This record gives sequence, structure tokens and C-alpha cells, in this order.
Amino acid sequence: MSAHPLSPSARVSAVAANANAPVGIFDSGLGGLSVLRAVRAELPDETILYVADSLYAPYGDRDDDFIADRTLTIGQWLMQQGAKALVVACNTATAQSIAMAREALPIPLVGVEPGIKPAALQSKTRVAGVLATQVTLRSARFQDLLARYAADCRFLCQPGHDLVQAVERCDVGSAELRALLRGYLEPMLDAGADTLVLGCTHYPFLNAAIRDIVGDRLTLIDTSVAIARQLGRVLDQHGLRAQPDEALTVAPRFCSTGDGSHQQQLAASLLLIEAAVEHVAIPSRRTANLSSRAAVGRAILS
Ligand code: DGL
Repeated sequence: MSAHPLSPSARVSAVAANANAPVGIFDSGLGGLSVLRAVRAELPDETILYVADSLYAPYGDRDDDFIADRTLTIGQWLMQQGAKALVVACNTATAQSIAMAREALPIPLVGVEPGIKPAALQSKTRVAGVLATQVTLRSARFQDLLARYAADCRFLCQPGHDLVQAVERCDVGSAELRALLRGYLEPMLDAGADTLVLGCTHYPFLNAAIRDIVGDRLTLIDTSVAIARQLGRVLDQHGLRAQPDEALTVAPRFCSTGDGSHQQQLAASLLLIEAAVEHVAIPSRRTANLSSRAAVGRAILS
């Protein structure tokens, strides 16, 4: 894809963004709510429009083109809804498609990536674990992070198979989930790790279960607060930071491509946000076939 002809600030004015517009936050599912929590704490005057692509989660099981297609289409949808900036609150989507999304979308973008740098800075044993999706771990962006920041620190990279699915069904502490986590974390402890990078935005919702297994032997690295601060800097650079308005109660607008019931449940129980979730259809090139196949299936069944 060719480079965008306008500079970032010209591109923002080209879409006439204004500071009162919402920030769009998107994830494959509910994980981005951990980023939303940090954004609300750090930037309380911002209104937020959140999209969970739960119908197609987990992205970690999808091919690269599918993830790029969804990231771009949802980014465009958020812009049509008036978003002034976009947070790709998904390590997998960032790893796979942030460069392409930056080229294609004329609003400021903030992505997320595993906290390899802070982990390498703070590990004393020089052994750290990373839990992330397979797609994130095998991505060139992640390999580049390791090459740049791992230095003399050994990173034990563990795909968190089935963890996203557990959070998507609001399971943050069942016996099965704990057994799964134990299988991932105990080898890290045995290898002398003192630090654990949570390289997927779903995983901070598993903090309590992780703590029950590792006690205080691992320092958990979650980059959501750093992402919220980065968003604040980016909004300032573009003159897009919302002005404080005492009269305004800023409740997020929650949207989901799925039925939204688990999103509503997780937001209420872990974020203490009581808000309805709108079902939204965001068709894209790669899901057009899936939808028509599903429609054919339904027609055959009926
Ligand atoms: N929250 C996403 C991430 O940070 C989960 C990816 C997935 O759906 O597999 O990577």
C-alpha cells in the first residue's frame, strides 16, 4: 500500500476531528476493556466508543490477512462513528496490522505491545516469562522487540492457548482455568523467572488467578497505564484532548459484534461500569463469505 500523502496533523484536520469526539478503542473481544479501564483513569474527560469483535474472537487463531481485514474495517467503522483517535487495544492486531492501519486511517493511532522493555529493565534474575498469543509471539514486531530490548535477559515465551476464550466467557478463576495457568507459569518459576509480561490485553483480568499461583515471586508487567499515557500525549500533539466539563458524565458507549452479554457482565463485575452493549454488524471482506455461509446454513436448517 502506498504511503499516505498527508502529514499526521494534516490528516487529522482533513477529517475535521474535534476534541469533543470520542476515542475509539477496539479489541478482538473483551481484553481491550483492561485498556479502557486505564484510559478512563488517566483521561477521565475523554468519551469512549468501544468495539469488541467478539463474533470473531480469538484473533490468535486467525490468519494474518483476516486480522488485518478486521482491524482496518473496524477502524473505518469507528471513524464513521466520529472517533477522533483509535486505540488498537489488542497485541495480536497491533503486531499484525498496525503499520497498515496507520497508512490507511487518517486519524491518530495508538497500538499495544508486550512490555519487553520494562521487563528487561526490572528483572533481577534476568529471566522473564511472556504470555501472549501465538500470532503475537511469532510476529516480526515481537521478534524485533526482543532483539532491541531483551539485552542479557532470557525471555521464556509461552503461548496462552485457551486463555482468551476463558476471559471471553467471563471465566477468570475456575479450577480448569487455574490448571491451565499453572501449566504455563510453573515452568517459568522453575526456570528462575522473577517477571511475567502479560502480552495480551485479556490477561490482566486473570491477575488474581495468576497471583494465587505465583504469589509475589513474579512481578506482572501490564502496559495498559503506559498506553493510556501515550494516548494522552498523542491527543495533545494533535490538539485533540477533551476539555474538562464538570456537567458531563462520561459513560463509554459499548458495542459488540457478538451478543454482548459477557461484555456487559465483565464490565459490571470487574470495571464496575453498568452499561448496555449495542450489537453492531461490521461486515468486512473476509467475513462476507463467513456470513453468507452461515446464512446458507441457517436456510438449510430452517
Ligand atoms: N486481546 C487480544 C490481544 O491482546 C487477544 C487476541 C485474540 O483474540 O487472540 O492479543
